[in-house]
Amino acid sequence: MIIGYDDYYFKEVFSLNHDKIVNISTKRGFLWPSFEIYSGVAGFTDYGPLGAMLKSNVIEKWRKIYVVNEGFYEIESPSVTPEEVLIASGHVSNFTDPMVQCLECKDVFRLDHIVEEQANLSVDGYTNNELDKIVVEKNVKCPICGAKLSEAWNFNLMFRTNIGPKRNKSGYMRPETAQGIFIMFKRLSRFFKNKLPFGVVQLGKAYRNEISPRQGVIRLREFTQAEAEIFVHPEDKTHPKFNEIANEFFVLYSAKNQSENKEALTLTAQVALDKKIVANEILIYEIYLAKKFLNEIGIPDNVLRIRQHLQNEMAHYANDSWDVELKTDKYGWVEIIGIADRGDYDLSAHSKHSKEDLNVYIEYDEAKTIKKTVVKPNMKELGKKFRKNSSKIIEVLSNIDPLKIKEELENNDIYKITLDSTNFNIEKGDLSFDEVEDEVKGEKIVPHVIEPSFGIDRIIYGLLLHSFNSITLKEDGKDKVKDYFKFTPSISPIKVAVFPLMKKGKLPEIANDIKDSLRFNGFTVEYDSSGTIGRRYARSDEIGVPLAVTVDFDTLNDNCVTVRNRDSEKQERIKITELNSYIENFYKMLM
Ligand code: GLY
Repeated sequence: MIIGYDDYYFKEVFSLNHDKIVNISTKRGFLWPSFEIYSGVAGFTDYGPLGAMLKSNVIEKWRKIYVVNEGFYEIESPSVTPEEVLIASGHVSNFTDPMVQCLECKDVFRLDHIVEEQANLSVDGYTNNELDKIVVEKNVKCPICGAKLSEAWNFNLMFRTNIGPKRNKSGYMRPETAQGIFIMFKRLSRFFKNKLPFGVVQLGKAYRNEISPRQGVIRLREFTQAEAEIFVHPEDKTHPKFNEIANEFFVLYSAKNQSENKEALTLTAQVALDKKIVANEILIYEIYLAKKFLNEIGIPDNVLRIRQHLQNEMAHYANDSWDVELKTDKYGWVEIIGIADRGDYDLSAHSKHSKEDLNVYIEYDEAKTIKKTVVKPNMKELGKKFRKNSSKIIEVLSNIDPLKIKEELENNDIYKITLDSTNFNIEKGDLSFDEVEDEVKGEKIVPHVIEPSFGIDRIIYGLLLHSFNSITLKEDGKDKVKDYFKFTPSISPIKVAVFPLMKKGKLPEIANDIKDSLRFNGFTVEYDSSGTIGRRYARSDEIGVPLAVTVDFDTLNDNCVTVRNRDSEKQERIKITELNSYIENFYKMLM
């Protein structure tokens, strides 16, 4: 299918889904407010039993694509990060949001968000002075009490902590899992036998002390990231599987089209590269893979958009960045995945600060012969002029780029060096230069990094939102509304529901054996014996269980059970002895 936007879907079906899914997910144990018995704290969420299972299925699907299919290796590093790491990465100085305080009620706000809400302006990347000016010009006020606001200041989003009891080592809770990968680059590079490209992933918690999070799971202070860092040769951003996706269609909303107020473009990967809308094959391949992952867990193309960052909204480490955005009825387009070309920003920064070589020696397929200029000291002249210092001066000169010395002598007639606080002037006659041929077997390079970064909690929200289905059926001549999560079977938290028709007697015994046997075979099972069968079907539909098994009185005679399909509501009689393989086949066909 060519992806695009289906207006009907948004207007007619989608308009009230946020409230409904929040309601059902709270009622049925997907998402709960954190610290609830102590009045709760904004920016945190609890995953209830079904939510935690759903999340772990989504993460397993992610691992299947990135670790198994792509062959990237997974690592795990600490969440608590020493300050020097985050000084080097730029987070201590750059990872800030503009903050203001209400002069009356003293509440604090993220200024860019309230300017966007009240003045309807997009102000990503604006300086605090520019924002302060807009506050005055557009009369932006405290969103709570309507009073005047303070001037803006930068608030660093990282949670600060102390490492150890002496309080003499500062640290932060990591703002992204990516840094843990960069820090172990030297060992990773050896692990991968110094061969590029290679990919490394990390899944885990990241922390951002958001200023005033009012958007549920969309803006969390503690959240789960799944990130892949793909280390590539700076001059080779081709992808071996590009041909397989060259004719796939994408809706790409380039920075150029956004700034010219034009629509997003629907075009193939090949055309996107030819027109230089996406910079390289790896980026577009990663966009493809991110979309494939979303589609496989049940988020369809028609609620996705792929938007390039404008220059002023790019993170401090990025050269080029594309977001996969999700259409939501409540929050508009929301970033759920970022795919960035981080260049050599991180490895160079950590190399500079740690003084460790974070490069890779790339051996050429064939040695190259290169011409180079060498310095030839005129020993007689140098000896005469500098006497006992001449050998030291020659040593210093041998460590300087000969072309620099040559250029300086050509431009200024002298080249100055300092030795033990004494200046020495080298003149043209003191040296000559020769061109020689040298055989070079390889070179040291700092790899570039392409990073797909997934916000798992936002993806879970998107999944709930877009798996939600509300249909009206006729039952006994009356309308019956069926509200349910139509989860893709492979990620559904519960795979099978088992119902004994009666609570007591032989039927629950048989149903219990079936439950145990299915669990033993790896299926998550919900056993429900209360209420009418109709109510039990409705409850298992609501939480998205794809199959329900009912043990009824006929079972006692025919050793069969009724298997009902959540989506078609079709029922089949299946022999108990064949139930496991029936269910296995059902899931195998859909995985
Ligand atoms: N690593 C990218 C991010 O955390 O946004």
